[in-house]
Amino acid sequence: MKTKDILVIGTGISGLTFAIKVAEKNPTLSLTLISKGDMNEGNTRYAQGGIAVVQDLKRDSTAKHIEDTLIAGDGGCDPKVVTFVVEEANQRLTELINWGTSFDKKKEQLHLGKEGGHSEKRIVHYKDQTGKQIQDVLTEKVKSFPNITILENHTLVDLITDHHSPAEQNRCYGAYVISQEREEIIKITAKITVLSTGGAGSLYAHTTNPSVATGDGLGAAYRAKVQMDRLPYVQFHPTALKEKVNGNVFLITEAVRGAGAKLLNEKFERFMIKMDSRAELAPRDIVARGIQKEIQEQDADHVWLDGSEISEEKWKAHFPTIYKTCKSIGINLPKDYIPVVPAAHYFCGGIKVNEHSESQLKGLYAIGECSATGLHGANRLASNSLLEALVFAHRAAMDCIKSLNENLPDEDFYAALPEWDGDGYSKNYTIEKVHNLREQLQEIMTSYVGIFKTNEGLHKAENKINDIYLQVQQLYNQNKLTNGLSELRNMVSIAYLLTKQAQDITENKGVFYNQNYA
Ligand code: SIN
Repeated sequence: MKTKDILVIGTGISGLTFAIKVAEKNPTLSLTLISKGDMNEGNTRYAQGGIAVVQDLKRDSTAKHIEDTLIAGDGGCDPKVVTFVVEEANQRLTELINWGTSFDKKKEQLHLGKEGGHSEKRIVHYKDQTGKQIQDVLTEKVKSFPNITILENHTLVDLITDHHSPAEQNRCYGAYVISQEREEIIKITAKITVLSTGGAGSLYAHTTNPSVATGDGLGAAYRAKVQMDRLPYVQFHPTALKEKVNGNVFLITEAVRGAGAKLLNEKFERFMIKMDSRAELAPRDIVARGIQKEIQEQDADHVWLDGSEISEEKWKAHFPTIYKTCKSIGINLPKDYIPVVPAAHYFCGGIKVNEHSESQLKGLYAIGECSATGLHGANRLASNSLLEALVFAHRAAMDCIKSLNENLPDEDFYAALPEWDGDGYSKNYTIEKVHNLREQLQEIMTSYVGIFKTNEGLHKAENKINDIYLQVQQLYNQNKLTNGLSELRNMVSIAYLLTKQAQDITENKGVFYNQNYA
């Protein structure tokens, strides 16, 4: 395949927005866009809540949104980044609407929801299906550009860097990816590579993320020695349905608490009011810890979400997916309480990037959840993630277009980069083997590297993860690389790095909580 101008890996809101922006601005540029599975499957699709954008200027202001973000981030945010993200929000939202995305309206104004940590109503949303609405519109739009080649069912393996080239340029030149159909690893070269691969919620047994969220970009960047920031800051969403639905964890959006639902313990008492003056609408880290503490102290396996203050009409109009899903498992809203538990939800940290989303490796950008921009600090404010994706996809797109004018290697250089070495191997292990190791890893992360950590637990986890790492490395060295093994290779690397880094943190901030420092 001839070298493209840009390779985008990942097809959620950030990757698609980036590709559309580049293609619109400069139709002469060539892009390859790859997704691990169907291009619709990823975290964006499951985002229920919405996008935080100040609208109601009678009550709200960008200053208030900035302040809420800084408070939620618990001293860890970069105030400069927070300011420009909040200030650019309306422009990015308008573009999304102009591309055809619908949001709920009240009369002629956008309907605004409220979520934890927000002092005002400012969540722009489409029912409880905001992510799906955005994903569908962007997927359709990206397909309309002839200069974008879309490759579904292609898994990122490793970035191609100067390590693979005789020239010492310290650049990224594209990636090796598994073509799942051809069952081989192919070289895709590009002048610029953009990771929009999302987080790694699959490291945990209970996660709101789909199973494709295995930290592939994080793993590849780690192996390429790209700097990471704040990896141990994993956010748990307070309210996932306790029971899995069709094998998947089902999110109950914070907007439900914003609409008045209350959290109750086993004795049907409102426990959050004892813990924080903002009660159910405190920032997510506080509510998740509050729930987990209550579960442990009461020796329960869930708490209750009481949505009886919300009328049935409102449930049906604003939260139709939750209403129907609950009904399908015998929970009749608004009268029945919903059993909920916290679940791993979002990586606040990731690949360290600058204000244009460029990583420290030249030619490599990271956008969306796989990046650490400085916006979220120690705890992401609800509904700031889709916003971050839009703002940084735009900034990265504009920056990339400019940087393509730099003096970059010619086609002969890319052609001389080596093909993947390893397709001579065959696969001599069972799918069950990979599956079992994945489950063991999830158990370790959930038991020792979850909401509440201890020094002893982290140390135990490090040793256990190292055992799994050695087994995965052996499988990797002796076998043909498959999608499942590649995912596990990334998961175990990220689990190890995260656990190691967690042991260096001696102060509890935001989502990071080690009981030895309480
Ligand atoms: C939610 O709807 O509660 C999740 C939205 C987010 O993670 O920001």
